[in-house]
Amino acid sequence: MKLPRRFFQPLAAGAPEPFRELPIKLERMIHFVPPHNEKVRARVPELAKTVDVVLGNLEDAVPADQKEAARKGFVEMAKATDFAASGTGLWTRINALNSPWILDDLFTLVAEVGSKLDVVMVPKVEGPWDIHYIDQLLAQLEARHGVTKPILVHAILETAEGVANVDAIASASPRMHGMSLGPADLAASRGMKTTRVGGGHPDYRVIADPKGDGERASAQQDLWHYTIARMVDACMANGIKAFYGPFGDFSDSAACEVQFRNAFLMGCAGAWTLHPSQVALAKTVFAPDPAEVNFAVRIVEAMPDGTGAVMIDGKMQDDATWKQAKVIVDLARLVAE
Ligand code: GLV
Ligand code: MG
Repeated sequence: MKLPRRFFQPLAAGAPEPFRELPIKLERMIHFVPPHNEKVRARVPELAKTVDVVLGNLEDAVPADQKEAARKGFVEMAKATDFAASGTGLWTRINALNSPWILDDLFTLVAEVGSKLDVVMVPKVEGPWDIHYIDQLLAQLEARHGVTKPILVHAILETAEGVANVDAIASASPRMHGMSLGPADLAASRGMKTTRVGGGHPDYRVIADPKGDGERASAQQDLWHYTIARMVDACMANGIKAFYGPFGDFSDSAACEVQFRNAFLMGCAGAWTLHPSQVALAKTVFAPDPAEVNFAVRIVEAMPDGTGAVMIDGKMQDDATWKQAKVIVDLARLVAE
């Protein structure tokens, strides 16, 4: 769905147009912090030096009677930390559009720290209309408070209706930064029978081919494959980024690693980290494997203009594998910077 230009409100005087070409940034983990928790807040200046994105969460997991404290805590945290110094992104997750809190979330944050806020994550997005609304509201608030850098929007894909409208959501506004899969809410919305936050389920199996290698065939039980693939296609088609969301079982780092790695291989740029133990995992997983990088470098070097066909270690390479190699080499460079 293409939007007419007139849809967008003028930004504050002197503001650049919202851009479609997002700056290339490493966002391997979006690290969630509860801003109403004073102890956690005190650790944010140090934390900001070790993660790619700090997200102050105002939505689920913040009790209703702490919403006000979370907003205040976010403002305090944003003012107390120089996120730009370490190139760390400052994001928030606001409350859902049908909640009583969303207006106060946006009014407070943009008024108080709008110039420091990079991205607003919007939960339970069901269609492009939700993004249009946030887009208009942000434009008005930016104009009112003299915020000259457009605040970007990131949608959580976590309702059945949202998945049905994923392409229209991805293209809803030039402010779109990307999208994350929210497996917990999505499971509920779809009527899935799980109480887990992400990951597999012991009872969900692929029936093995009786003539095949049964053990290997039945190991495949990724509940999220379809949605991640749809989300990645919608995002890439619109030049925005896809992310895997939360993994709730902090005691099972092996399963978390598998979930993160599958998302990475399928095209996701990063994942949410809800616990410090998941940060190191995300750093390792959302960076290309050194052996793969070496091989990719050989492909790129063997075809300097990206055309033709060569054999490397018995494997055919051509223009298409050159492009695959370039994805890996570019990411490796970004990680090394
Ligand atoms: C995240 O918000 C989820 O619902 O998984
Ligand atoms: Mg959710």
